[in-house]
Amino acid sequence: MRQFSGVDKLIHSFDQALRSLVPGATSAQRENPAKSEDTQLMVSDARHVAGLMRVNHTGEVCAQALYHGQAMTAKLPNVRREMQQAAVEEQDHLAWCEDRLKELDSHTSLLNPVWYSLSFGMGALAGIAGDKYSLGFVAETERQVSLHLEDHIRQLPEHDERSRKILLQMNEDELHHRDTALNAGGVDLPAPVRIAMTGISKIMTKTSYYI
Ligand SMILES: [Fe+2]
Ligand SMILES: [Fe+2]
Repeated sequence: MRQFSGVDKLIHSFDQALRSLVPGATSAQRENPAKSEDTQLMVSDARHVAGLMRVNHTGEVCAQALYHGQAMTAKLPNVRREMQQAAVEEQDHLAWCEDRLKELDSHTSLLNPVWYSLSFGMGALAGIAGDKYSLGFVAETERQVSLHLEDHIRQLPEHDERSRKILLQMNEDELHHRDTALNAGGVDLPAPVRIAMTGISKIMTKTSYYI
């Protein structure tokens, strides 16, 4: 197998970061679940949905960063393929959220580079802590993302089927990612780590809704 130098890895990481952060740089492998739905929203509803979708998009940027950071430091000999598959599905989520934001005439969060860097660091640290913690970190992240998605699905205007279809598919995928990480040996994280993660995600959701 080809050996990559430190510089190769750095360039690869930079390329991955750009693909996650530059709008339009990632395309989905699967069809957008909202494809066959037709939704017209009032301006106030559209603004709220755009805020929610911006939060979800930033969540997906964080998911990309987490998987990229983890891939750099974790060994994951038995589950590397499953983790890569999860990362590909996260790219679909990123592209679908971006599509919906575009339809709503809105934009992705300006703070995404900050959240990407932070999540990359956390993913890499979890990988260094060992595979069972790294997988536990994935499982806990996916669990928290799923809670957000369920809350956002409840908040959608009743007839916004386009957003609903996307969020429902994402939620199904996230729960599957959580189960994959747990089945692969992910352990429960210590309570202070879980509380810190909830705190950080609260700051992320509050800020991304607006900017
Ligand atoms: Fe996702
Ligand atoms: Fe996920």
